[in-house]
Amino acid sequence: MLSEERAALEELKKTVQEETERRGRPLSACVVTFGCQMNERDSEKLKGILLAAGFEESDSEEADFVLYNTCTVRENANTRLYGHLGHVNNMKRQHPDKIIGICGCMMQEKDEVERIRVKYPFVDIVFGTYNIYRLAEILNRRMREGTRVIEVWDKEKEIVEDLPVKREAAWKSGVNIMFGCNNFCSYCIVPYVRGRERSRDPKDILREIETLVRDGVIEVMLLGQNVNSYGKNLPEPVSFAQLLDAVCQIPGLERVRFMTSHPKDLSDELIAVMAKNPKVCRHLHLPVQSGSDGILKAMNRHYTKESYLALVERIRTAMPEISLTTDIIVGFPGETEEDFEETMDVVRRVRFDSAFTFIYSPRTGTPAAKMPDQVPQEVIKERFARLLDLVQSIGSRQSLRDVGRTMPALVESLDEATPGRVTGRLGNNVCVHFEGDESLIGHIVNVHLDEAHGFYYIGTEET
Ligand code: SAH
Ligand code: SF4
Ligand code: F3S
Repeated sequence: MLSEERAALEELKKTVQEETERRGRPLSACVVTFGCQMNERDSEKLKGILLAAGFEESDSEEADFVLYNTCTVRENANTRLYGHLGHVNNMKRQHPDKIIGICGCMMQEKDEVERIRVKYPFVDIVFGTYNIYRLAEILNRRMREGTRVIEVWDKEKEIVEDLPVKREAAWKSGVNIMFGCNNFCSYCIVPYVRGRERSRDPKDILREIETLVRDGVIEVMLLGQNVNSYGKNLPEPVSFAQLLDAVCQIPGLERVRFMTSHPKDLSDELIAVMAKNPKVCRHLHLPVQSGSDGILKAMNRHYTKESYLALVERIRTAMPEISLTTDIIVGFPGETEEDFEETMDVVRRVRFDSAFTFIYSPRTGTPAAKMPDQVPQEVIKERFARLLDLVQSIGSRQSLRDVGRTMPALVESLDEATPGRVTGRLGNNVCVHFEGDESLIGHIVNVHLDEAHGFYYIGTEET
């Protein structure tokens, strides 16, 4: 943490203390998170700052301070934020002391900030993705001076290490290994709102994970928009495979996951490191986006259907038990019925365990938004339904394949649907429900997979 940020945190602490005394009760703060794991990790840092400043955490938007950490990857993410704002504005009418903040990816878009500035005067603070570590400074200014603070930077700066963090789970944690993205897939807004790719120093990453492990963490998820290009721009270049191998050597750490892998950069070195390290979970999220070479080219993805299938083949040869998941976009500009059939063909051939399917959403400022031949909504909807059917029928059959085996599961929670049961996650990311109680949460146990139900198992603990 920078020294000025530490000082800002001390100042905010004083302000919160004074307010707490004035109101005769503690102040509460609620962080609402939209979007991907990167945003969830950012929210843990935002909460870390707020708790360190003396706020109590709340999961209700009735809280004294509500902060929305936004996503803008598809239009519906934006629509959801505006829904929440309408609602929270009504609450603020009843409680004028309430403070409302917005940060995250959507605030890196000038038009959105302008809209908030003009049409949503009840929003008190706005900041972006590059300056989340300045939350204490910004919020304190708002609380002291009573004026609106809008502070968005248009460029990334240095990586700030050692922010306070409030982890959601005691036994697992996300760990950023890099920020930003240099790929500029033609449909995607992330490079514009998260900036250029920056890798953290491997020493900082290993130190953070060692600290987490001392604190009880047994599973980490290494996070980046394209982890396979990790380390290329460091003063002393390191490959993602080398980093992963080093992480696996940390004693006490039991499971390692990572997200996301761009197919164009997934090396044979990485496959070999995964295969030799049993700590690396047998799950790979490998977004294919489309099965058509023409569309993949227009998307700027730098691989073909055949090279993707060949990569899947190499991965499965090295790790036959691996589970593969993917992201697919339907209705990219110019997508014809033949292009779409190529995507269906990839799904049939790879047999993904599951796939996130998205309707193409034009994002202002991206090249695809200006491409001709935008596909009509009714055509997209019809294709989307066909794809979803296929993905689900294959996924549910895929998940049957381990029935009858005994596999280690990390118990994550009580099973909300059935009292007396807990929910565990297998290395391949599939869930299993079985008899057990709270004492199992955060532990890895061997579970016999008795029955498959669509996308999860019912099992029995083996002792
Ligand atoms: N960095 C990750 C993806 C981040 S965004 C990667 O490259 O794999 C998560 C997913 O959202 C993408 O894989 C893509 O399928 C989807 N997506 C991104 N932009 C989109 C858009 N404009 N419309 C629809 N889906 C989109
Ligand atoms: Fe977006 Fe492509 Fe970067 Fe993923 S790799 S964040 S899809 S530009
Ligand atoms: Fe959304 Fe930003 Fe993640 S746009 S998907 S929250 S990087």
